[in-house]
Amino acid sequence: MKKLYIETLGCAMNVRDSEHMIAELNSKEPYELTDDLKDADLIIINTCSVREKPVSKLFSEIGVFNKFKKKDAKIGVTGCTASHLGRDIIKRAPVVDFVLGARNISKITKVIDKRHAVEVDINYDDSSYAFGDYRTNRFKSMVNISMGCDKSCTYCIVPATRGDEVSIPSNLIVTEITKAVKTGAKEVMLLGQNVNNYGKHFSSNSENCNFTELLKKISKIEGLERIRFTSPHPLHMDDEFLKEFFSNPKICKQIHVPLQSGSTSLLKSMKRGYSKEWFLNRCEKIRKLCPEATISTDIIVGFPGESEEDFNDTMDVLEKVRFEQLFSFKYSARPHTTAANFENQISKEVAGSRLTKLQRRHTEILDEIMDAELGKIHEVYFDELKAGGRVSGRSDDGKLFFVDGSEELLGQIKRVEVTKTSRGALEGTLFA
Ligand code: 5AD
Ligand code: SF4
Repeated sequence: MKKLYIETLGCAMNVRDSEHMIAELNSKEPYELTDDLKDADLIIINTCSVREKPVSKLFSEIGVFNKFKKKDAKIGVTGCTASHLGRDIIKRAPVVDFVLGARNISKITKVIDKRHAVEVDINYDDSSYAFGDYRTNRFKSMVNISMGCDKSCTYCIVPATRGDEVSIPSNLIVTEITKAVKTGAKEVMLLGQNVNNYGKHFSSNSENCNFTELLKKISKIEGLERIRFTSPHPLHMDDEFLKEFFSNPKICKQIHVPLQSGSTSLLKSMKRGYSKEWFLNRCEKIRKLCPEATISTDIIVGFPGESEEDFNDTMDVLEKVRFEQLFSFKYSARPHTTAANFENQISKEVAGSRLTKLQRRHTEILDEIMDAELGKIHEVYFDELKAGGRVSGRSDDGKLFFVDGSEELLGQIKRVEVTKTSRGALEGTLFA
């Protein structure tokens, strides 16, 4: 059997794209996954281009892979960096056999045997393409509900790598989840760049369904117990959607609300479409009507023109919302974005010290949040066997749990009492 080594960088959409590529390859001939590069017949690097660092590392990585790979093994570069650099990847690194953009991964079986094939059309519409079945974890599944992005945030390269937004027909989504449930998945993660913009753009005019309606349809699937989604956009968090989030018992009470900046003037220059007040209002509403919900966020510091006052607005939102999880980044100027040409670029030193300040304060908040978990009881869905007789899973509000246990716990939801806390995870014992 041929062996496949696949490295996946970036976000959950890329993780799902890798699963889709594995499924497509297997539909042609069976591949065994390997962690050993030297053993692989096919090597795929599924790339991310949202920040500069991983992109610059790509070419040195290709060099290393080329040195250690088997003589006839093929190397493919896929994903967002493939979309934006296209044929230049092969010009710079002729050892690469094929380049497949994030919007073109359904063509994987067509390119693997063509030397120097490049497929990077960002307008390619495979929103109705029926990918084969493959998932890394049998107890949960990831399902795309839309592809691409219809926003033009001035810092973001994604519209140039994943193209315009198109929603996947709701009946296909429901069919895919129903199949996953039949094979052991009690939990689904719905994926899209802006999930709560679902239904704005379909390929066919006859489709009509918004995100709240989609959630209602999905929650009718028998045997499905937990629904998660990422990422919603704060701009589209209307009251109808929040009501569904609070009241639907199958929807996990964990929500990602990407802030990016707490300064209204910076948000304007980022073209985010909301103000600091709107963001705070949405989070206050979540905290008030659903106190058990956890809120995570993304923040960029050092965006062009960010003054000390702008940064203080971001710190202020952090104090007020007390996010349970923070993903924070130094601004990175990206090709195909308007912000890359803005004046007032912020020095790396200033951005670095702001990032440190933000992360330090968040760590203090997180320690307080996690310490308060001691003795609490959560419903945990166990989905992974760990070394040393342990099993891991997530609580409804998204916290990572470890308990002593074995295979019998997998696929089950159990009440767990927290016995030990730490920043990243909780330990507990089963609670009768
Ligand atoms: N620089 C830094 N961070 C960025 N992100 C997106 N584009 C950039 C950029 N140019 C961050 C945003 C986004 C997350 C996935 O990556 O916070 O929500
Ligand atoms: Fe995901 Fe964005 Fe990275 Fe593409 S660029 S893999 S969409 S995080």
